[in-house]
Amino acid sequence: MDVFPNPDYLVRNNPPGQRPFRLARGFFITFEGGEGAGKSTQIERLARKMRAKKYDVLLTREPGGSPGAEAVRHVLLSGAAEPFGPKMEALLFAAARSDHVEQVIRPAVERGSIVLCDRFLDSSRVYQGVTGGIDPAFMAALEQVAINGMMPDMTLIFDIDPAEGLRRATLRRGSDADPDRFEKETLAIHQARRAAFLAIAAAEPERCIVVDASADPNTVEDVVTAAVFAALEARAPARNRQAAPV
Ligand code: TYD
Repeated sequence: MDVFPNPDYLVRNNPPGQRPFRLARGFFITFEGGEGAGKSTQIERLARKMRAKKYDVLLTREPGGSPGAEAVRHVLLSGAAEPFGPKMEALLFAAARSDHVEQVIRPAVERGSIVLCDRFLDSSRVYQGVTGGIDPAFMAALEQVAINGMMPDMTLIFDIDPAEGLRRATLRRGSDADPDRFEKETLAIHQARRAAFLAIAAAEPERCIVVDASADPNTVEDVVTAAVFAALEARAPARNRQAAPV
């Protein structure tokens, strides 16, 4: 079981001695996509780059990111909740999300941090809503309760052919280790998830940017960096940034 706080996923410290910039209101960016799309590598690279530019960055993930949500993470990813059906799983993801939002994300955004979150509400829409076959009205109600207004300012959707994504995910985990509850599903299900993420991006172009995750990691990093810094500059031009002690 993962231990909280997990230093890889909830890291709020900028380098020692650095006075990070804080924005008047923070910025909330989510990373979404199928398995093996390279989100975790890219989110860490972006956090490093932003901290080097003195932004105050909080890196977190779902399911998890707060003590309550990390406890639920294990139940979900081990498959312990699977026998009780997708609705039960959707409720557990929502419970974890609500705790994460109220304990970690909202306070960080309110104090002016940039929050980078590895998966968020779009994963529930896709994995539980679309491929779990749950009634859209039920999912929408659950989403509202879970996020309580905390909509991401920007969502990067990492798009990759699921066959390639699963190949990468297997390499990363090691072929001896078992895939988790969701990774183990059929290629057809992963293909449906890819289509569902792209449909969200098409429906919400003001929030979502699709990133071609099949490119090499440095190219993907350049695309992510350009998109995020352009959005930040549009939101808070550099001259208006205020230096504030942590
Ligand atoms: P994780 O081990 O964090 O890896 P990755 O994000 O690299 O795939 O796995 C999280 C799994 O949980 C992933 O298979 C997607 C699934 N998931 C949902 O089904 N619904 C959700 O709301 C979230 C946040 C994740």
